[in-house]
Amino acid sequence: MADETDVSDPLGWTRDHTPLLRSYQREYGETTPLEGYSIGVATHMEAKSGVFVETLAEAGAEVLFTGSEPHSTKGEVVEYLDEQDGIESYVEAGMSEEAWVDAQHALLEEEPDFILDDGAELIARVHADHPEIAQTIVGGGEQTTAGITRLEAMEDQDVLEFPVYSVNDTPMKHFFDNVHGTAESSLTNALMTTNTMLSGKTVVVAGYGYCGRGIARKARGMGAKTVVTEVDPRKALEAHMDGHRIASMDEATPEGDYFITSTGNREVLRREHFEQMQDGAILANAGHFDVEIAIPHLEDLAENESTPTEGVTRYHLPDGRQLDLLADGRLVNLTGPYSKGHPAEVMDMTFAMMVMAADDMLTEDRDLAPGVYAIPDRVDRTVADRKLETLDCSIDDLTENQEEYYDDWEHPDSHF
Ligand code: NAI
Repeated sequence: MADETDVSDPLGWTRDHTPLLRSYQREYGETTPLEGYSIGVATHMEAKSGVFVETLAEAGAEVLFTGSEPHSTKGEVVEYLDEQDGIESYVEAGMSEEAWVDAQHALLEEEPDFILDDGAELIARVHADHPEIAQTIVGGGEQTTAGITRLEAMEDQDVLEFPVYSVNDTPMKHFFDNVHGTAESSLTNALMTTNTMLSGKTVVVAGYGYCGRGIARKARGMGAKTVVTEVDPRKALEAHMDGHRIASMDEATPEGDYFITSTGNREVLRREHFEQMQDGAILANAGHFDVEIAIPHLEDLAENESTPTEGVTRYHLPDGRQLDLLADGRLVNLTGPYSKGHPAEVMDMTFAMMVMAADDMLTEDRDLAPGVYAIPDRVDRTVADRKLETLDCSIDDLTENQEEYYDDWEHPDSHF
């Protein structure tokens, strides 16, 4: 009989699956490049972000962390981190919205040198409520699409006081986190919640951006017949050439068993679609807040609602059809009853890029004006190389002749 789960170290399992962060912990534990800096972190506070926070502390930083929203905090992780040297928490599990905001103010009053953010929570708050502190902050990093949109609005309105690296837009984040992390965790949660299978089902995926293409490819890999809807003709062609069927949502509506939205847009599924859907259709959102599926339209159409199983709202329509909405139309991979968020292996890369954002801006003597910046490509490549190393995979180096060939625009020897 195996021992009971070891609860003394709530990060243990996750550390086993975040080899990249552990490799930075080993190296930076010796060189401590962030010594002397304090870093404010806002993130969903659970085991993966716990390993991220301890990596910053290993690198020598004093870390002050809070939740990026009040409801996702895991108390055992906060307690564990609070006991570690150089880490201070400004969040508790189950805290009220008011207490959460107060905790953010308390963190910012400690005047961190750098901010690593999720949704631009801390960065927006320091500009709105602590402008004198904003002027002393060296810079920041932001990991989400929504946060970057907010920061770009601040940049456009000329209010951003320091440079921020867009970790969200770096290839090491969105090629993996958005494509693979969102897809696997969304499908896993949808299937666990409903105890259904995808084989043989028609799955309609709205949006063929990074998230949508991952969802469609993986659903097909599990045996589903996939239909993609788009508004961008090039994305639609890409989906077509990847082997999915392209249709307008009007055409796809009567066929779908599963509908998964991932557009970043609102009312992608709405009244006219609900009116045409098959009885028992399952609806899930992997995209933006809770607006991609027009819930008010569902509520209008339905005679009543029920909860046939945890995480599912069933809308009973007057003609007898039932439509099943998962996770209240919120991000199904983050808020469903079985949600554990993105897999640790993929957050390993996203959080490594967050650590590198701090490392590069604080230690490489960057003299950046306020604004939103791409992370330098060499930094992204270094992290990719290291991730490959942790996977024990080798790639080739260009030979001298190959380097020369790239550099020589005339290609005189191209015939050998
Ligand atoms: P993206 O910009 O690469 O893709 C969005 C796609 O949706 C585009 O191709 C666009 O043409 C298409 N689109 C827009 N309106 C549409 C409509 N009415 N019908 C059909 N297609 C439409 O963005 P990405 O990275 O795929 O992200 C999509 C959304 O997912 C964003 O809101 C993002 O914040 C969110 N996201 C969610 C995650 C999660 O954990 N669930 C993780 C990462 C991103």
